[in-house]
Parts: sequence; structure tokens; C-alpha cells
Amino acid sequence: MDIVVSGIRSTGKLHLGNYFGAIRNFVRMQRENKCFFFIADYHSLTTHPKPDDLHGNIKQVLAEFLACGIDPEVATVFIQSDIPEVPELYLLLNMNAYVGELQRTTSFKEKVRKQPDNVNAGLLTYPVLMAADIIIHKATKVPVGKDQEQHLEMTRRFARRFNTMYGVNYFPEPDAYNFGEKLIKIPGLDGSGKMGKSDDNGIYLSDSPEEIRKKVMKAVTDAGPTVPNQKMSVPIKNLFTIMSVVSDPATVKYYKEKYATCEIRYGEMKKQLAEDIIKFVTPIRERIIQISSDTKYLAKVVAEGAEKARASASATLRDVKEIIGYRKWI
Ligand code: TRP
Repeated sequence: MDIVVSGIRSTGKLHLGNYFGAIRNFVRMQRENKCFFFIADYHSLTTHPKPDDLHGNIKQVLAEFLACGIDPEVATVFIQSDIPEVPELYLLLNMNAYVGELQRTTSFKEKVRKQPDNVNAGLLTYPVLMAADIIIHKATKVPVGKDQEQHLEMTRRFARRFNTMYGVNYFPEPDAYNFGEKLIKIPGLDGSGKMGKSDDNGIYLSDSPEEIRKKVMKAVTDAGPTVPNQKMSVPIKNLFTIMSVVSDPATVKYYKEKYATCEIRYGEMKKQLAEDIIKFVTPIRERIIQISSDTKYLAKVVAEGAEKARASASATLRDVKEIIGYRKWI
């Protein structure tokens, strides 16, 4: 049985990309592994949210996690900032993380480019905090998407470095969780890259039917195929990718054939796609509304999750401090 750790940043509502990329897999793996799923609300401070937004986002993401089927009776579900052992391990790991390697991290370089007026030290040490999240539970597996692979590689390096430095075999080097089937990357509706919050090209799990219809009908398409079996442009391929996760296989087949014979009408396809997304999202959305109104239940979930996560984290931290040389006097 593997120990699995995964976090999700609390930057707001979850979208279909989060669902098919991560959450659905969390739900699938929770019963076969010892899973720690948490809301990375320290990581989200790098973007300077307002206090009320931070709080609201944490609550929202938690309710959405649970609405998707993550079971707090099975997995350990918690909030990063409830575990003080994490920042303590982060401090210790920072002593063995070199500024040069942190500056060379792809995600850091991207932030420097995208937000030159907020290159804070938290961004620089983001991978160290993430490593602390993971190795504090001695994780063996981490489900990560492409954009987090380098961070996982750094986690492995920090774990290895600690072991070498102190001549111990204490931390396992966590591997990427292998899903067997290929990870589905959900594209956005703007015809370009993947669905993401920052680009606002996505469908949220909490979107109402009207919002979904509006967004899908506005999705970017092209002028339509003019020769049989024409190669698909990226925006059209994207619509088919979304369709492949929410619609019946027969529906996908129908529109693919229409495309191949140049008879496709994008307006008709989008209408169908919108209805299928609505059918998929509506039960989740209703559960989100119900769960997020039950503050008492949410409070119980995070309190129990924190207790379980702290038990695991404090045992590791005790060992680590002892290994480093913080010893009892008597
Ligand atoms: N950095 C991850 C992301 O942006 C979130 C995260 C924080 C995480 N700590 C983690 C993911 C530990 C996996 C394990 O998606």
C-alpha cells in the first residue's frame, strides 16, 4: 500500500479540468492507498489574496472536494495551515535548498516573467514547501500533472539530500502516481491551452446551467471543414476532448462522422455539449451547495483531518529533529 500525498491550491472554485485531471483520480485511489489530500492554503498566499477571499476559497474548495466524492472517513482530508509541523519542516529543508536551484525552477522563472512586481521569497521556496508537504508523511506516491513534475523531482532531490547529508535512509523518494490510463488534460473553451483559472476559459463545477450554456455557445471554433476527413484545428479538437469525457460515446461518434463528411454544424454540437456538461455538473453542483451550507459538518471534517495529519507529521518531525542533532538534554 502506498502513502499518497496531494495538495490543491485554494485559489478558488474547481473547474472541469481539476475534476478530470486530479479529483476524479483522488476519488479512485483513496480506497487502495493511505491518502492525504489537503488544501494548499499556504501556497496560495504567494498571490496575496484578501483575508476574506482566502477564507472563502478554502471553504469552497473543501466543499467541492467532498462533493466530488473524496471521503473524509477514508482519506485524510485537511488544510495545510492547520499543520504547524509543515512550516517547521519547511524551515529545516530550506537550509539544504540552494538559491541557484530554486531560481532555475521553471515555475519560478515563469512567475518572474509574469508578475515582475511580486517576486516574493515564498515563490522562490515554493518547491521546498511542497517537498515538506509530501515528505512529512513519508509519501511514496504523488499524483501530479505535467506542470508539477519538476516540483516532484525537486522533492525527490531534497529527500535524497537529507538522507545523504545525515547518513540515514529516512525519507523515501516519492514517485509520480501512475494512473495506468493516460491522464486526460481538459482544454479550455478559448481554443488554446488547457483549462485554467487564470485564463478564465473554463467551466466550473459550481456553474449554473445558464452559465454553462453561455460559455459553451461562446467557445472558439473555426470556419468548418471543407474537405472530407479534414485535419481538425485545435479549437475543434478541444471541443471533442471535452465531449469525450461528458457525453455518450455514441454522441461523440455522431459528431465525428458529421465532421468527417463536412456536415457538422458547430452550433448544434455546442448545444449538445452544453446539455451533456450540465447533466454531468448538476449533481455535483447540488452537492456543493448542500455541503457548503453545512458549516458544522465542514468544521468537523477539518478538525478530524488535522488531527490525523498532525499525528503523522509530528512523528516525522520528531525523528527529523533528532537526526539533525536537536537532542534531549537529559
Ligand atoms: N503545487 C501544487 C499545484 O499547484 C499544489 C501542491 C502543494 C501539491 N503541495 C503539494 C501537490 C504536495 C502535490 C503534493 O498544483
